Amino acid sequence: MPLFRKKEQPGAEVDFTKLPRHVAIIMDGNGRWAKKRGLPRTAGHAAGAETFRTIATYCKEIGLDYLTVYAFSTENWKRPQEEVSAIMGLLKKYLLEAIGRMERDKVKMEFFGDLSPLTPELRELCERTREISSHYDGCQVNICLNYGGRDELLRGAMVYARDCLDGKADPNHLTEEQFSGYLFSRGVPDPDLIIRPSGELRLSNFLLWQSAYAEFYFTDVLWPDFSKEELLRAIAAYQGRSRRFGGV
Ligand code: IPE
Ligand code: IPE
Ligand code: MG
Repeated sequence: MPLFRKKEQPGAEVDFTKLPRHVAIIMDGNGRWAKKRGLPRTAGHAAGAETFRTIATYCKEIGLDYLTVYAFSTENWKRPQEEVSAIMGLLKKYLLEAIGRMERDKVKMEFFGDLSPLTPELRELCERTREISSHYDGCQVNICLNYGGRDELLRGAMVYARDCLDGKADPNHLTEEQFSGYLFSRGVPDPDLIIRPSGELRLSNFLLWQSAYAEFYFTDVLWPDFSKEELLRAIAAYQGRSRRFGGV
């Protein structure tokens, strides 16, 4: 993980033939964006949802295979009830609109996280979104909802242990590839680039297993202000990195 924040690179050139296959984003900074404008935090979440729509559409346009976004963490339940409800309300609105636009957008959508604490209505919407979009094969958008990297690993370990007890898995042989199949992200390649806006330099329990060799890009821009240009800047920075994966 780089220790330095990458300097802004205005006008950075992107080689569109060498895009990262999988970009992951920690959509952070909604609250501070709202505070700066004297608005309630929920207004920041609404603005952040708009940014997500723009960025997801753009990722499909430029031909990214996978976009994974951190929308709500296992720790975000600690927030005031009104804020949590507002976020869930925005999610419902987003999913209803996404379902309405599905035929046009053709974006495959998946959800990473334990959806069981969500309301039955929201769970059903997630399920419907996943089902309707399952046959699209362009960009896949993974929304991390009630997602925590540690929670994901524990759940995977528990299912694996049960499979061992049932004789479906061998406790003496477990490869990284096999264990990846026990995670929410099964079947999805690891992220090449993880972007965190808002100036925070931490993972906050995001993709702990999958981020092993990801490149990181941090920017002070708050998520609602994040733009296509910002994304291109992050991709250009990524393209300037030398990925060695432990080799020379
Ligand atoms: C990210 O923005 C959205 C969620 C975590 C749901 P924040 O709400 O964390 O915004 P800041 O970090 O307080 O500015
Ligand atoms: C991470 O942001 C979670 C999401 C963006 C959904 P937080 O705002 O919850 O992270 P911390 O609390 O600053 O680490
Ligand atoms: Mg935050």
